[in-house]
Amino acid sequence: MDKKDYKILFVCLGNICRSPMAEFIMKHKVAELGVADKFEIASAGTSDEERGNPVYPPAREMLKRHGIGSQGKYSRQIVPEDYAYYDLIIGMDSSNIRDMHFAFDGDPEGKIRLLLDYTEHSRNIADPWYTGDFQATWDDVNEGCDALLTDLGFI
Ligand code: 4NP
Repeated sequence: MDKKDYKILFVCLGNICRSPMAEFIMKHKVAELGVADKFEIASAGTSDEERGNPVYPPAREMLKRHGIGSQGKYSRQIVPEDYAYYDLIIGMDSSNIRDMHFAFDGDPEGKIRLLLDYTEHSRNIADPWYTGDFQATWDDVNEGCDALLTDLGFI
């Protein structure tokens, strides 16, 4: 039997920048809150473009600067079975949401969310692939994860 209360999958396009940052920031936060045992947290990409690749070096560095490791993570694409398995499937931008609706054939159980929808200013996570600004991505993901934990009643 599965004992995890919350199974969360973070999703972006390539699964090498934004969603792995969300995965490891969230893992770090639940560990700091002492509630890691209640969570199963992972990430995946809507595309298979980066399949098997590790976290993109600047994203890895940004995490490392905050004392957060990301070793052992390799990009994987979402699979249809993810929909039933996870409780929350959280995209980084509106195209991720659209692509997931296609991949999962809709969202009958209302599991698909946009990370920054949990904040008071819903928007896409800043995409460092185009801007090179990993600090902006860090700030957005951090804000989103805090808002998600607030929504779940942990902070
Ligand atoms: P991510 O970033 O979706 O945050 O992992 C990207 C990674 C790869 C590509 C685009 C965004 N790409 O075009 O290959």
